[in-house]
Amino acid sequence: MKIAIIGTGNVGRSLGEALSKCNEVVYGSRKPEETKAKLNGANVATIEEASKGAELIILAVPYHSAKEAIHEMKNNEKDKILIDVSNPMDEHMRWAKGFNESAAEEISKHAKGAKVVKAFNTIFAENMKTGQLGAEKLTTFIAGDDEGAKAKVMELARGIGMEPVDVGMLEKARYIEPVGMLMIELGYGRKMGTGIGMKLVGRNSA
Ligand SMILES: NC(=O)c1ccc[n+]([C@@H]2O[C@H](COP(=O)([O-])OP(=O)(O)OC[C@H]3O[C@@H](n4cnc5c(N)ncnc54)[C@H](OP(=O)(O)O)[C@@H]3O)[C@@H](O)[C@H]2O)c1
Repeated sequence: MKIAIIGTGNVGRSLGEALSKCNEVVYGSRKPEETKAKLNGANVATIEEASKGAELIILAVPYHSAKEAIHEMKNNEKDKILIDVSNPMDEHMRWAKGFNESAAEEISKHAKGAKVVKAFNTIFAENMKTGQLGAEKLTTFIAGDDEGAKAKVMELARGIGMEPVDVGMLEKARYIEPVGMLMIELGYGRKMGTGIGMKLVGRNSA
């Protein structure tokens, strides 16, 4: 599959490393030439170009930059799967949303016509390279309104090594995003580090 990853930070690069094993990955960056040199000649384009040629787009930018990044796609996200990995935080790493709303729903309003799927936000970037900690597959909670899009993202997650769990419609991102914040609190606030992850137990495999 042709995948565009918008944002070349921790998450963008980790998912890029994982997904480029079986897919064609192009990064969308604000400064493609500079970024290409930093990423050892990886396939880097402008956000507009990367999103144009892709079948699926991963938005891996900070929550507060999502609207701007979507604007840069120039409507290329229309009719495509758009994965939102964000944890909505303010500049002090505090929760930036209420509990009757979600970043994913907000993003779907900006990305008109895109099939937005919430995924990967509860897994630390470094663990996204394999989706596993030791022999344990990490759970990634998935939400989205388009069943076909969700199925594709779940397949992608399994391909990385994660265990996807379908939480329901996109509105259920309201439950998934606070779980991402819990992980950040444990990793950084409680100083457990990023070598931790979540696994749903006591159920049949997804
Ligand atoms: N870090 C984690 O462990 C983790 C885990 C789960 C979810 N998340 C979520 O994943 C997202 C990315 O996190 P990260 O840790 O990868 O952040 P990061 O290391 O700060 O990287 C973000 C990237 O986004 C791009 N960017 C920044 N501002 C932008 C803008 N205005 N328009 C377009 N692109 C912009 C930049 O790439 P270019 O310079 O190439 O444009 C930047 O490298 C966040 O929403 C975060 O909440 C992070």
